[in-house]
Amino acid sequence: MIWNLGSINIDNFYEVPHLPAKGETLAARSFGFGLGGKGANMSVAAARGAAHVSHIGAIGPEGRWTRERLMEYGVDIPHIAEVQIPTGHANIVVDDQGENNIVLFQGANMELTEAIIGQALTEASPGDYLLMQNETNGQEYAAQTAQSLGLRVVYAAAPFEADAIARLLGRIDLLVLNEVEAAQLEQATGKTPQALGLPDVVITLGEKGCRWVSNKGDRQFDAYAADAIDTTGAGDTFTGFLIAGLDRGMSMEGAIDLALRAGALMVMRRGTADVIPDLKEIQDHFRT
Ligand code: RIB
Repeated sequence: MIWNLGSINIDNFYEVPHLPAKGETLAARSFGFGLGGKGANMSVAAARGAAHVSHIGAIGPEGRWTRERLMEYGVDIPHIAEVQIPTGHANIVVDDQGENNIVLFQGANMELTEAIIGQALTEASPGDYLLMQNETNGQEYAAQTAQSLGLRVVYAAAPFEADAIARLLGRIDLLVLNEVEAAQLEQATGKTPQALGLPDVVITLGEKGCRWVSNKGDRQFDAYAADAIDTTGAGDTFTGFLIAGLDRGMSMEGAIDLALRAGALMVMRRGTADVIPDLKEIQDHFRT
């Protein structure tokens, strides 16, 4: 079982010819919105990867539909609180090359209380996973509680903040980060991923695949070919499927392979949580 302390955002998507420059006003070619947030994306990905996921989070009154949608996608929602602060949202611009930039309003995501987190984790069992990203408050309390209950703690270090990782380092079993975040972490700590003293570190490398650093060494896994049109949420999809695979008892190699396949399919789609592929779509795509 996966307990995901994670953000829930309303994602607003704007397709633009190029990413806006400083001071530029740019007309979008299209607009759409949907369910997002690194946390919600990972919950949906893990559920689509056939894991049992309970999301721990907070929304505002106008975002009730986001909680309903998570439920429709197979995620447990009893531990998503409603607070009197607007739901988090993200304005995402995507250019013709599939590159993006994102402006985030954290809103309700930063209103989690120890009571909400603690109540959820009292239902957890030893061996379950606690998954977190850096888009909510309460990570230290959650990690500490989870560790004391015998859960495995996974931290996806995005958006990157060196201090947030530093506070959690002694409690993390698996750290997932991208290439840029890995370089930032090395700069901030002066330590290579091997020297961090963590059981497992997975570093995503975009179209180059990923690395897995552990006491078994430093292994590289190639990416699957994909015609990328939008990379938004691909890292979240990778992480959700990775943890789903591990939670279902797959080896790290097997879970990474599944996550790379899911990520490859995701970059060929526009959008975030609403378009994350399921296991059948992944199997069908890679069979052809
Ligand atoms: O990683 C993509 C996500 O980042 C988007 O869904 C957006 O909400 C931001 O959290």
